[in-house]
Amino acid sequence: MAGLLALGALVALPLASAQSAGTPDAHPQLVTYKCTTSGGCQAQNTSVVLDFNSHWIHQTNDSSASCLSNGSLDSSLCPDTETCTKNCVVDGTTNYTATGVSTSGSSLTMNQFTAGSDGDLEVTSSRLYLFDGASNSYVQFQMLNQELSFDVDVSTLVCGMNGALYFSEMESSGGQSSESPAGAAFGAGYCDAQCPKLDWLNGTVNTNDLGACCSEMDLWEANAYATQLTPHPCTEPGLYACSGDECGSSGVCEEAGCGFNPYAMGDQDFYKPGGTVDTNHPFTVVTQFLTNDNTTSGSLSEIRRLYVQNGTVIQNAVATVSSVAGNNSINGDYCSATDSAYSTWGGLPTSGEALERGMTLVFSIWDDSSAFMNWLDSGSAGPCDSTEGDPSTIQANAPNTSVTFSNIKWGDIGSTYGSGSTSKLASRHAHNHIRKSWH
Ligand SMILES: *[C@@H]1O[C@H](CO)[C@@H](O)[C@H](O)[C@H]1NC(C)=O
Ligand SMILES: *[C@@H]1O[C@H](CO)[C@@H](O)[C@H](O)[C@H]1NC(C)=O
Ligand SMILES: *[C@@H]1O[C@H](CO)[C@@H](O)[C@H](O)[C@H]1NC(C)=O
Ligand SMILES: *[C@@H]1O[C@H](CO)[C@@H](O)[C@H](O)[C@H]1NC(C)=O
Ligand SMILES: *[C@@H]1O[C@H](CO)[C@@H](O)[C@H](O)[C@H]1NC(C)=O
Ligand SMILES: *[C@@H]1O[C@H](CO)[C@@H](O)[C@H](O)[C@H]1NC(C)=O
Ligand SMILES: *[C@@H]1O[C@H](CO)[C@@H](O)[C@H](O)[C@H]1NC(C)=O
Ligand SMILES: *[C@@H]1O[C@H](CO)[C@@H](O)[C@H](O)[C@H]1NC(C)=O
Ligand SMILES: *[C@@H]1O[C@H](CO)[C@@H](O)[C@H](O)[C@H]1NC(C)=O
Repeated sequence: MAGLLALGALVALPLASAQSAGTPDAHPQLVTYKCTTSGGCQAQNTSVVLDFNSHWIHQTNDSSASCLSNGSLDSSLCPDTETCTKNCVVDGTTNYTATGVSTSGSSLTMNQFTAGSDGDLEVTSSRLYLFDGASNSYVQFQMLNQELSFDVDVSTLVCGMNGALYFSEMESSGGQSSESPAGAAFGAGYCDAQCPKLDWLNGTVNTNDLGACCSEMDLWEANAYATQLTPHPCTEPGLYACSGDECGSSGVCEEAGCGFNPYAMGDQDFYKPGGTVDTNHPFTVVTQFLTNDNTTSGSLSEIRRLYVQNGTVIQNAVATVSSVAGNNSINGDYCSATDSAYSTWGGLPTSGEALERGMTLVFSIWDDSSAFMNWLDSGSAGPCDSTEGDPSTIQANAPNTSVTFSNIKWGDIGSTYGSGSTSKLASRHAHNHIRKSWH
């Protein structure tokens, strides 16, 4: 009766059963900061959890026998959620280091490769969510008329790599229910605007080949050579299980979106090793979500980007390509001019509704075997050769490629960076200032 057991379910089960079923996840602590103009930045006791599929999902009666076969869920063990919950157990990840993920204070590093037990490199392509242990759910970000900043080190992210930080409108519980008890504590419930068709959907077995759609706000998709900021609105609120054409490029979510990539916008020296933003060294990335009436319930009208490096605030690159010359932010005019389908999904106002409802923060590192990440860093998007993003080339030339995100701060406009932020004080005393619970 054990099943896909979560901490929340332990109370209802006898201890013996609890011990034989899923081990708890380590949830490495990642301190983050919530800021206000008046009160400065307060450290938050947050942590990270790996995506559900990165966990060991094994047969209830044999902890060494996987419930996956050939890379996907074994349909004889998991023909439906109820049977799967009886036959299979998800174990928490206890050693994040072994998966290429490490945290220290407010800093998270994700490696694309780790040394396996046989000495060979193993690909991680890990994805993590910001988790709140006190409420057993994903930290929810309501970002209208707010900003988020973070420090990033992209110096080892070669062409073809993508170290990403973004919001997805996942269920904060990870779809936890009595039927599928694992939930957010085990990284369940992923969705994004590409409506991926995964083994699991909202914590249940995806028996009908449905796609997991939800609004996505790509704050940061980048390597050392290119970076892009992209809103992806969906017309359905929250997680939406799509089928057929609803999942495709004319479905409920805007797959492409009106992104801003400085190189593609004509400033090829802005973001690169030795550039205006020097990607050889860490820097701070600030993203501001401005509304038409400057309130947290207004309509999203502009997404503004700033950088801070070495104490200097750097305004975003100004577009020089003729269609949007003069723009250095994502606004209605910019989107209408760069994206012919912009209005189909409701554009920035629709993205703003998801930011108002609340979204989950996602960290990922990945490479791209199908298109070598050319959309991000090659051709008109960046200086990379069209084939150097081949994952086998990356593995051979850059086995240590990784991304480090740190000092994640969010709150009132102007409160998270530069002189508006008292974060230096907060970070020095982070461990003393951590609050007992999430507010
Ligand atoms: C474990 O349970 C599965 C599903 O009921 C069954 O197919 C398998 O033979 C069992 N294995 C052992 C070792 O009992
Ligand atoms: C496993 O997947 C590969 C590639 O999709 C396929 O060729 C093979 O037949 C599969 N094996 C089994 C046992 O299903
Ligand atoms: C975790 O994994 C790392 C890398 O595989 C290993 O060096 C370390 O000893 C492991 N830690 C524990 C506590 O098992
Ligand atoms: C932080 O949260 C974790 C998990 O909820 C808890 O075990 C730990 O005691 C908390 N630490 C502090 C300093 O509140
Ligand atoms: C996801 O799971 C939660 C918990 O069971 C449920 O309340 C919600 O309706 C589900 N959403 C979808 C789209 O299935
Ligand atoms: C919102 O704030 C900006 C910058 O402070 C200001 O220029 C603008 O007039 C304000 N808009 C409204 C509708 O209050
Ligand atoms: C930061 O500024 C210091 C002092 O002005 C300078 O020596 C250093 O090279 C700068 N670092 C970067 C990454 O620009
Ligand atoms: C942004 O681009 C649009 C579309 O070309 C243009 O109408 C607008 O004037 C530009 N804004 C700025 C501030 O240059
Ligand atoms: C990768 O990192 C390891 C350990 O820090 C180091 O020994 C090795 O030289 C590095 N490899 C490359 C290609 O940089």
